[in-house]
Amino acid sequence: MNTIVTGLQWGDEGKGKIVDYLTESADVVVRGQGGNNAGHTVIARGTKYVLHLLPSGILWDGKTNIIGNGVVVDPVGLVAEIERVEGQGVSITPEKLLISDRAHVVLPLHKELDAAREAALGDRKIGTTKRGIGPAYADKINRCGLRVADLLDETYFREMVGHRTADANEVLAKFGLPTFDATEQADEVLAAFARLRPHVSNTIPVLHQAWKDGKTILFEGAQGTLLDIDFGTYPFVTSSNTTSGGSCTGTGLPPTAIDQVIGVCKAYTTRVGSGPFPSADEGLSQYLHDLGREFGATTGRARGCGWLDAVLLRHGCMVNGTTGLAVTNVDGLDNYETLRICTGYEIDGTVHELPPADRHAWDRAKAVYEELPGWQQDTTACTSYEQLPEKAKAYLDRLSDLCGTPVKFVGVGPDRVQTLVV
Ligand code: GDP
Ligand code: IMO
Ligand code: MG
Repeated sequence: MNTIVTGLQWGDEGKGKIVDYLTESADVVVRGQGGNNAGHTVIARGTKYVLHLLPSGILWDGKTNIIGNGVVVDPVGLVAEIERVEGQGVSITPEKLLISDRAHVVLPLHKELDAAREAALGDRKIGTTKRGIGPAYADKINRCGLRVADLLDETYFREMVGHRTADANEVLAKFGLPTFDATEQADEVLAAFARLRPHVSNTIPVLHQAWKDGKTILFEGAQGTLLDIDFGTYPFVTSSNTTSGGSCTGTGLPPTAIDQVIGVCKAYTTRVGSGPFPSADEGLSQYLHDLGREFGATTGRARGCGWLDAVLLRHGCMVNGTTGLAVTNVDGLDNYETLRICTGYEIDGTVHELPPADRHAWDRAKAVYEELPGWQQDTTACTSYEQLPEKAKAYLDRLSDLCGTPVKFVGVGPDRVQTLVV
């Protein structure tokens, strides 16, 4: 049974926790898009791990973890992450972690270009993670990117970094910004790559062999549907296809290899960075922040919070082909008296059930709500779905009805064991 785990909101839905939970019965975990803009939190055996490029299956022994061709890899960032996670007692061997030779490389200059572009945009900035994701994917599409395979040939790599740096410097000089030194760029990346080299291979036949052998493959999505370059709140999105289709193009496994798609969403909605958020709610944000919740795993930024938005989930379930939902952070609403669910957007007097394409229409969209009674009971100690308060089950049933997809998993706490199977 091969399963895609994908985010249905603006990222940070709890994908890492769900992937880690499902890894127990899987053989292979593969990332197909994004880079170290992702921050996936897993709490297991009392220890908290935050993973950016490493697939969340890395915490289990005897599983194969793959960074697929569609991922953009920052070698310097990945080595720092490996060292940090190894420092937490997790072994990361070439048997356990494979890196695709087709994955594109994030150079230090991509990070600087990301930051420079954000600064130039001023109050129109996207609010990126400044990890160089947009510039690295832009180079890939523009056919001037460097791939992991290019790192295997040092002379060629240095030459290509020279060309790329000269191009970048031309742009930077125009804006009066500091320019880059090509040798420094190449030295830094090659030094980090020495640690990664034993992990590099053609991961496509490895995945196909696993599929042929009937192994269980988990596709770990990064970011979420509303950050997808095609289906998200453009231009306030990331630069990859975060939806289920990206799992195929980003790994080399075809759609026929997929058996199910689990869409992960919180029981409410959060967003970091700029862009529209019709169901945002100051009171709920304050309440969750006061509980110490909803601070970003990658940048530490406070996430904006709002009510569950069924317009987004309906759209997400449609474009991902979601076969089941994993609803996390149900416990976050434990003490609220009255809950709201956004069922439509009113734009210029008409109620819409699906999100608009026009960025100005997003700005005019007013959330239409229905109210449900809160359960006002602690759910964190529930060990089965049956133990959930009836009002919590009613809330989940309504969510399932609104997006036409059954709830398969429920999260009642950050720990691996606080996952209920429906
Ligand atoms: P990801 O990027 O989708 O993997 O999600 P993040 O790790 O960025 O953010 C999810 C946050 O919610 C993390 O702090 C998780 O530890 C936490 N989390 C996940 N599921 C649950 C849950 O069911 N309840 C609670 N209280 N926290 C959860
Ligand atoms: P995970 O995998 C939440 C957001 C940024 C910004 C926009 C573009 O942990 O869910 P980028 O650096 O990708 O160019 O930023 O996307 N963003 C995320 N938000 N979770 C993420 O990943 C994100 N990755 C990027 O905040 O709004
Ligand atoms: Mg995250």
